[in-house]
Amino acid sequence: MRASGSIAVETRLAASRTAPAPDLVNSAVSGKDLGRFRRALLRWYDQNRRDLPWRETRDPYRIWLSEIMLQQTRVAAVLDHYRIFLERFPNVEALAAASEEAVLAAWSGLGYYRRARMLYQAAQQIAEQHGGFPRNSEALLALPGIGRYTAAAIASIAFAEPVAVVDGNVERVLQRLIGINLTTAQIWQHAQALLASSRPGDFNQAMMELGATVCVPREPRCLMCPVRKWCVTQGEVPRAEPPSRQKKKQIWCALEWRDGDGNGNKNGKVRLVQRPRKASLMPGMWELPQSSEPPRPLPVSAHWRTFRHSITITDYTVHVLRNTPLPDTLPAAKGKWIAIDRIPQIPITGLTRKILKAGGII
Ligand code: ADE
Repeated sequence: MRASGSIAVETRLAASRTAPAPDLVNSAVSGKDLGRFRRALLRWYDQNRRDLPWRETRDPYRIWLSEIMLQQTRVAAVLDHYRIFLERFPNVEALAAASEEAVLAAWSGLGYYRRARMLYQAAQQIAEQHGGFPRNSEALLALPGIGRYTAAAIASIAFAEPVAVVDGNVERVLQRLIGINLTTAQIWQHAQALLASSRPGDFNQAMMELGATVCVPREPRCLMCPVRKWCVTQGEVPRAEPPSRQKKKQIWCALEWRDGDGNGNKNGKVRLVQRPRKASLMPGMWELPQSSEPPRPLPVSAHWRTFRHSITITDYTVHVLRNTPLPDTLPAAKGKWIAIDRIPQIPITGLTRKILKAGGII
């Protein structure tokens, strides 16, 4: 902790209430206030938390799945995928016994497919090596795709282990609460010092929930905040937001499909291309043929619709052409005609799903 940080926190505490206990002078909240802070946050959480399916269980598999799906994905986008995934793979054994293709197909639309691959690998390790699900954060950390955050989230929520979590929301809450720029290591220390060891899973979720619903990045709702009296900044973010790294790109996609014997989509086919198995992004997944250049000349009638789609740090403007093949440089770019009724079993990209849905094909 830098000296200026200690002074900032100490001054405020001294000015507002009793002096902090000397050994906790660097903490965001200390002494008797620590108990008050924890109780205020937990009471607020009990009364205000969103009803979410992963909050109705202590099953570590279900909690693990929710935590992985919630990384980089909004709650609203996760809900349906979570339910469907659990219907197909209700436990870690079922997941380990599936094919990777089936797992990716169930993940389709959530993006960041590396998460699904790691989840699958970890399930296989658990099924092969462990006598059941690892029951503490240290053992969880040894699994693929489980870092400090996920290990702590699972261990605290499923097994009541008193380990703090820090995600982007918790980091913002702590930065505002303390009012100085903290290093990552300091943020983890503060989170651990605040943690209520009687209900660590609920406390961790309360911190995340506070960041997601009250202590939001822009225009925080400080009047609704259960811990505002301990907050130094009352809503300001001390650190300047980093400039956006989003890039912009245009692509052209060819949507070619064959009606099944005048039967609508029954027996129909759509042309899809498989991404190279070694591609860094979404390897092996199926998608509509695409190109960074339009066909030339491009008949006006070829253009069907334009979509916006973001993948990691790139915002794409996607021009979809109907029944107009793209200029293909490689034979593989032509792809294969895939039966529409097989699509639920194969891993397709989120963009492809979006377009096929918009076209009423799936
Ligand atoms: N973000 C990720 N996991 C969460 C959880 N369990 N509660 C609140 N926000 C979260």
